Amino acid sequence: MRVDVALTPAALEPAALAGAVALVIDVLRASTTLVTALSHGCREVLPVAEVEEARRRARDLPGALLAGERSGDPPPGFDLGNSPLEFTPERVAGRTIVFTTSNGTRALLAARGATAVGVAALVNLSAAADWALGQRRNLVVVCAGELGTRSVEDEACAGLIVDRVLAADPGARATDAAERAVAAARPYAKDLPRLAHDAPHARHLQAQGRGPDVAACLTLDVFTLVPAYRADVDKVVSPYR
Ligand code: MLT
Repeated sequence: MRVDVALTPAALEPAALAGAVALVIDVLRASTTLVTALSHGCREVLPVAEVEEARRRARDLPGALLAGERSGDPPPGFDLGNSPLEFTPERVAGRTIVFTTSNGTRALLAARGATAVGVAALVNLSAAADWALGQRRNLVVVCAGELGTRSVEDEACAGLIVDRVLAADPGARATDAAERAVAAARPYAKDLPRLAHDAPHARHLQAQGRGPDVAACLTLDVFTLVPAYRADVDKVVSPYR
């Protein structure tokens, strides 16, 4: 089993996805929000790259919720933003959500060439590592990053997942990028709250008054579900559906 990490969607070599499985990470906040939404009973999420396209898709789906952000805020007319705390069971259970974010949904779409795509965050880290091990294929961890640059929190989450996979599978071989992610994750393994200081996007969200979101996103193993992005139907769904 080969284990690789792409720190941004642009760093992803499409050939690396062939025959492999992918885990897509955007700790702050899109993948945390997706894991929360599906864990709270949301029926399905349609990931969309652009705001206008999201509005169009939602118009064609009566009853669908429109969710996401640009510059951290929900665009005009959206029902929900990108705070995992908004995606409560009361709000999302049984609902279809059309979802667009600045980086996270694009990372998901970039991974569509993989044999199977799971959604990972710190809130489902152990489940995501187990999912990857259970697939018995090469693994590519795709980080959303921030507008084309690496994100400390995504690389840390990727490194922690890779570390678990390497520990559990003696036959697993990490690429140089995966080894670097493991090293980058080490300072956070027992101190996730440190990411609230070290990650520029965490500081930015806190300055916007979104400290509770950051705290929620930096919490380990709240959920055991790994949402599946089904590229054939272009939806993120619970694996149990
Ligand atoms: C993104 O997709 O870029 C992020 O989830 C941004 C955010 O924190 O809302």
